Amino acid sequence: MRLGLRVLPGLLLGILVEATESLDHLRVLGPQGVNLWKLEKAAAASAAGPKFMVQDGSGYALGSEESVAGFKAQWFRQPVDHFDKNSNATFRQRYWVNTRHYDPKKGGPVIVLDGGETSGVNRIPFLDTGIVEILARSTGGVGVVLEHRYYGQSIPVVNFTTDNLRWLNNDQSAADSANFMANVKFKGIEEDLTAPNTPWIYYGGSYAGARAAHMKILYPDLVYGAIASSGVTHAAIMNWEYMEIIRKAADPVCSGHLENSIQTIDGILSTGRFTRPLKALFGLSDLRHDDDFASVIESPLGSWQAKCWHPDFASTRFDEFCAALDKPPFGSGMTSLSELPYGAPERMVTLPGGLAVDFTIVNYGNYLKKYVASRCPEGISTELCFGTWDEEQYQVYDIDQEWRLWLFQVCTEWGYFFTAPPDPDHPRIVSKLLTLGYASKICRMAFPPGKHFTVPSLPNVTVVNELGDFDIAADRLAIIDGEVDPWRPATPHSDYAYDREDTVLRPFKIIPGGVHHYDEWGLLNLADEPLEIRAIHREMIYFVQEWLKDWKAPEKA
Ligand SMILES: *[C@@H]1O[C@H](CO)[C@@H](O)[C@H](O)[C@H]1NC(C)=O
Ligand SMILES: *[C@@H]1O[C@H](CO)[C@@H](O)[C@H](O)[C@H]1NC(C)=O
Ligand SMILES: *[C@@H]1O[C@H](CO)[C@@H](O)[C@H](O)[C@H]1NC(C)=O
Repeated sequence: MRLGLRVLPGLLLGILVEATESLDHLRVLGPQGVNLWKLEKAAAASAAGPKFMVQDGSGYALGSEESVAGFKAQWFRQPVDHFDKNSNATFRQRYWVNTRHYDPKKGGPVIVLDGGETSGVNRIPFLDTGIVEILARSTGGVGVVLEHRYYGQSIPVVNFTTDNLRWLNNDQSAADSANFMANVKFKGIEEDLTAPNTPWIYYGGSYAGARAAHMKILYPDLVYGAIASSGVTHAAIMNWEYMEIIRKAADPVCSGHLENSIQTIDGILSTGRFTRPLKALFGLSDLRHDDDFASVIESPLGSWQAKCWHPDFASTRFDEFCAALDKPPFGSGMTSLSELPYGAPERMVTLPGGLAVDFTIVNYGNYLKKYVASRCPEGISTELCFGTWDEEQYQVYDIDQEWRLWLFQVCTEWGYFFTAPPDPDHPRIVSKLLTLGYASKICRMAFPPGKHFTVPSLPNVTVVNELGDFDIAADRLAIIDGEVDPWRPATPHSDYAYDREDTVLRPFKIIPGGVHHYDEWGLLNLADEPLEIRAIHREMIYFVQEWLKDWKAPEKA
């Protein structure tokens, strides 16, 4: 039985996200998410067997050879440190290959999908029916999912202390991919399919999308073409624009409910009176710190990103949340709360102690109680589940603590702390208590300075942005984004970026109504896909085929 509450590290870091049935969306988890992750992991430990890990001679973990959806895991040996000539430590990087469509007479291409910040197992659907299968099928190529160092079973170290995480950075992982492309020998394939003798198309979605763009810039001789889908090429310390996308794209009735309730909630919290009855409405009366409360109640907003057109991965949680907010009081005769303006006498409820609030807040509280507060196990205090001020709870270093990985990347190079808009007068759907200090304190708590490495007080986002930022561009680098993707502000389709022309050599495409890397999922029969997905897949097939027509093998030296 699958644990319904399983959560994975991902680009959502900073928001606790509700569990859904499927594991394959990027999701996480701010400070509270880490707390719950640990509690739920402990609860599941007896049900689930231990992770299959053996040690090779060097003391590094090797994974199992088990296959997923018929794809057998394979392993490629990588240096732990590509840049230190004095270190000879290595680890094994896991990958899976789809050779269904490989035509030896054509000799490629290889379509490689970067696994990004999660176990490569979660990317197998893209190899099986999604974008890798689609592009391999239309080119007679080989498809590959390459797991990212430190994630899944491609783990180069024995624990995740600050020191041992120091090889988890953009330069090292880009060097992994380059080394792989230049040297891999696929089982059962005689021909040399290494780069640059074979054209490689490098695909990634989200963080991996940024990596795809970076690979095209850093290793142009190895990467023939690259596709950055929802590629977050702009790293930012604060990521308040994420919620702006949701505020503007959600049903205006829902956004209105959220803006109004947050204003009321911030008002109550700032007076310091009635904070306890307010928290009690949300099932969080014992939560000590107001900013923790503000952070927990933000969690339903993470469901926006979980939207997906593919029926097996779709989440309807966001719409359910909106419907719950709009529920009129029982027996009021209204069919929708929004029939009357916010604060209308018919909408007001008086709480014990005398505080009167609009019924939206009661709805919001009930929703939180039912789907979030309830995740705190029986007998465990609310403070332990949702409080984030006890640093000891983040100082656990064993390799089961997957949440440390993307968090480390956030704290060192990527940022994206979820905060309120910096302008206090800007409309918002999250509390103003979500400051940069609050959102980033977990970096100091989880990563105390090591002997060899210290996490900076704020991430050095220049490491990412100097590779091109919003303006990153190259021939045969495609940029594909979703119109209502909350990560769009961090992509070249940001409102802050210059507009560009969409050409075959430099595709620049937006998926109407698309959320996060919508082109990455696919159906075996493209004709069954929704119209806008079918359209983007057709365009992608077309430009990749056109690119390949121009390919010439490099002159042999
Ligand atoms: C790695 O280097 C150490 C010390 O430089 C040496 O003792 C060891 O044999 C080397 N290991 C391998 C696998 O080459
Ligand atoms: C982590 O692993 C290193 C070896 O890489 C070891 O020296 C250190 O004691 C370990 N730390 C913890 C907290 O497990
Ligand atoms: C941040 O990264 C850039 C680019 O790699 C580097 O030049 C700069 O020295 C770094 N800044 C700090 C404070 O480390």
